[in-house]
Amino acid sequence: AFEVECQRSGVSVTVPPDKTIYEAVEEAGVDVLGSCMEGVCGTCECDVIEGEPDPRDSVLSEAERESGATIMICVSRSRSERLVLDL
Ligand code: FES
Repeated sequence: AFEVECQRSGVSVTVPPDKTIYEAVEEAGVDVLGSCMEGVCGTCECDVIEGEPDPRDSVLSEAERESGATIMICVSRSRSERLVLDL
């Protein structure tokens, strides 16, 4: 599990292994947009303010993946204990 802090909403959630970031933050009442839920459409992309994402999508290029600047929250996870997102 890892922590996700939604900076704009002022909400922090724990994301357990059986839940996506999308599900966890949505349950906490954060407004999120999504469509495919499979990491292919790019709708759920959001900016990473702090932390190292673990990209599992098919949207980002190799360079974008390495930069860790954005994340598809429907499938991707975190390598760091905490991610701060622009949500
Ligand atoms: Fe389509 Fe996340 S909802 S990439």
